[in-house]
Amino acid sequence: METIRHEMISKFVFKELNSDNSGHDYNHAMRVYKNALSIIHTLPQLSEESKNIILTCSLLHDCVDYKLYKNVGKQNKKITKLLKSLKYSNSDIKVILEIINNLSYSKGISKERIEEQVVSDADRLDAIGAIGIIRAIEFGTKHNRKFYNPENDKDKNVTIMHFYEKLLNLKDVMYTDYAKSVAVARHEYMEQFLYEFYKEIK
Ligand code: ADP
Ligand code: NI
Repeated sequence: METIRHEMISKFVFKELNSDNSGHDYNHAMRVYKNALSIIHTLPQLSEESKNIILTCSLLHDCVDYKLYKNVGKQNKKITKLLKSLKYSNSDIKVILEIINNLSYSKGISKERIEEQVVSDADRLDAIGAIGIIRAIEFGTKHNRKFYNPENDKDKNVTIMHFYEKLLNLKDVMYTDYAKSVAVARHEYMEQFLYEFYKEIK
């Protein structure tokens, strides 16, 4: 962790997400934080304030996900309280809440600020490659889905479809050069996985 404040936030995230088993657990938040740090290292023009906003969002981004929480408003209030106690400015809190509430791929909101682009890249890198395969299977299992349907290869309700609907598109929606290059390698790995999978079930 870069700062004591991030340590405190990660403890909050641990309490919030440790019991999740749908691919959004505490370890995901930690990997997104690490990805964000790697991207930040390639962007020397970022101010300290921007870096802090990015890293804070990386840790907190899934704590307002409507798929995990019925009451997202309550989550926003909890986060505001936490950040105030850690002496974040009101304007930084506003930006952080905006970024984490607009992050989801499914919302399809384009990202204008460099801070949200970095958080988005960091989160999406964790949805592809070996980790991405594991998370898709975890998500599918949690939602009682089969991995594939041998009777119908167009069945939308199986996990493998998620690769075609989303995961194989992610390399083309990265913003930063660092994330683009990591995404290409992770994308190839997923294609290899799918190739092997189809070979084995043939
Ligand atoms: P986002 O934060 O962009 O909304 P999600 O929360 O939908 O992303 O996805 C979180 C994780 O769960 C990702 O690794 C994603 O691939 C996986 N996931 C989401 N929807 C599905 C699905 N229908 N089948 C399998 N995995 C899924
Ligand atoms: Ni996430």
